[in-house]
Amino acid sequence: MHDYSLEQAYIMKDRKETLDIVERAYEEARKHTCEGHVATYIPELGKVNPDQLGICIYRLDGEKICFGDYNVRFTMQSISKVMSLCVALEILGMEEVFKYVGAEPSGEAFNSIAELDLNSNKPYNPLINSGALAIAGLLVDKVSFYDMIAFARRICVDDDITFNEEAYESEMKTCSRNRAIAYLLESKGIIQADVEETLKFYTKLCALNVTAESLANFAKILASDGVCIKTGKRYLSGSTVRIVKTLMLTCGMYDGSGTYAIQVGIPTKSGVGGGLLCVSDKRAGIGVFGPALDDKGNSVAGIKLLEQISEHLRLNLFFDPDWDDLINKEKLI
Ligand code: DON
Repeated sequence: MHDYSLEQAYIMKDRKETLDIVERAYEEARKHTCEGHVATYIPELGKVNPDQLGICIYRLDGEKICFGDYNVRFTMQSISKVMSLCVALEILGMEEVFKYVGAEPSGEAFNSIAELDLNSNKPYNPLINSGALAIAGLLVDKVSFYDMIAFARRICVDDDITFNEEAYESEMKTCSRNRAIAYLLESKGIIQADVEETLKFYTKLCALNVTAESLANFAKILASDGVCIKTGKRYLSGSTVRIVKTLMLTCGMYDGSGTYAIQVGIPTKSGVGGGLLCVSDKRAGIGVFGPALDDKGNSVAGIKLLEQISEHLRLNLFFDPDWDDLINKEKLI
């Protein structure tokens, strides 16, 4: 007699299979860490060991799968833009937020200034630096930095998230470009709060220390429409989550978003600290850490890893395993 139900047996087999797939993908992706470079325009990030790679997957059925440096702390950087957007949408609503920022891919680098000056009176989207600075301007007088840390700890289920003062100071010394963007936004009436306070608020959020595991928790809540499946607690409204996931898919990897959508097909946001926040809708939250970056500021080995995982766990947004089985078995085509 077996002492587990069929359902449990299925989950166990599935976990084993998933583990094998993730382990193989991890071993393969590790070979690619040497192809990228850590960010050096923020001097503190230049000190990070590029040869690290970690992944944490939280499936919505509660299974957790981790490999490598999944517990190493690194700065959130641009992944904090997702958090700020969530908070802005929750507090101000969609209509107000999109008065100040667009929802279109920019096709430009994350810190581009040209298209903002020449083509548009508002930033293309909230996930590039200009857009995130606009969002920071909307929040800075309404939410304290400590409220934001508390929000990060709740949504990442990680009480150890702290502020990395060295990374913050280091970026504040070298952020002329973001400062220029912020003043340009002020000149266009997009930032109405104090520009220097807005810049500090934005930069502090970039310097929150997280792990791949904390990002997987955040992604898991986004994957389940803003609700924690285990407790039933709602963290974010369904409409906020849908907007955020859509923008992650279309703009989350900057001018690499289209290629990434073809390669991986899962809404993802990168940060120059090497993090990837990856939301496999209704299936899993995935966090990755791989600090060696490509020329667009996205983790090289992290993308390789997610490409493999997406293919072998069949997570591509446009791939439906049930439909695939149906058309193969029933020979509909
Ligand atoms: O503002 C910056 O340039 C950094 N604090 C964040 C940029 C970033 O993470 C771009 N992501 N890949």
